[in-house]
Amino acid sequence: MSQLRIEHISKSFGRQRVLDDISFTFQPGQVNMIIGPSGCGKTVLLKCILGLIIPEEGRVFFGDVDFLRASPEKKRTILRNLGMLFQSSALFDSMTVGENVAFPLRVFTQQNENEIQSRVAYCLERVGLAGTQNKYPAEISGGMKRRVGLARAIALNPRYLFCDEPNSGLDPLTARRIDQLIREITEEFNTTTVVVTHDLKSVVEMGQRILFLYEGRAEWQGDRKELLQNVHALPSNLRAFLMASGLVHSEKI
Ligand SMILES: Nc1ncnc2c1ncn2[C@@H]1O[C@H](COP(=O)(O)OP(=O)(O)O)[C@@H](O)[C@H]1O
Ligand SMILES: [Mg+2]
Repeated sequence: MSQLRIEHISKSFGRQRVLDDISFTFQPGQVNMIIGPSGCGKTVLLKCILGLIIPEEGRVFFGDVDFLRASPEKKRTILRNLGMLFQSSALFDSMTVGENVAFPLRVFTQQNENEIQSRVAYCLERVGLAGTQNKYPAEISGGMKRRVGLARAIALNPRYLFCDEPNSGLDPLTARRIDQLIREITEEFNTTTVVVTHDLKSVVEMGQRILFLYEGRAEWQGDRKELLQNVHALPSNLRAFLMASGLVHSEKI
């Protein structure tokens, strides 16, 4: 069930149409990116996919399950297969690193303490944080917190991994390291990964399938090669976005 497809998603807040008829297919084993300037609707789209915001129109299919209309049991099965990395890491400050990573295992599985601890150790090791179980979030750096968030997101071995601005607030080197980790994990576990970002350097680092949103419309979709090698063929808003990022210079356009 690991293909994820959205069809004709539209959402308004009051009179503002924040998403206008968005359709896209997210591929398994790939980093699928939703990109665009701040305020273009990326986070709202992600929340629609996760059922946290209900769109006025459109459907979200996890495999062949119509998620928004699914029974509570089917929804729970899908939720059990989702991992999420939030913008702020969203760790529980009163819990240790180990307990943060253990949290979804305690909520969603019947694993015993030994199984939980060994899964926690595995996930922390996978993100380069072996042995940090007993630290508290306040004792570790922003980049480490993001890694703990990623370890927690993969604890349940999810089929789908969602990350909203996974690099925000990190220095460039740490940001690239997080990008690389997300890409490695995607390929290793064959997850359908969806990354929301305004950071085009992330696209270069890990993007495979790309959806460009502009003022709530899907202005372009394609793969990374098409995005970076054929800049003059892109819509003007996307070209402007690329240029503003400094990744593409005006003489190339
Ligand atoms: N709960 C809400 N109520 C009203 N407007 C909202 C709400 N959430 C988001 N918006 C508006 O929707 C637009 C898109 O927001 P968002 O998806 O957060 O942008 P971004 O692309 O930066 O993630 C913005 O204009 C924002 O102000
Ligand atoms: Mg956002």
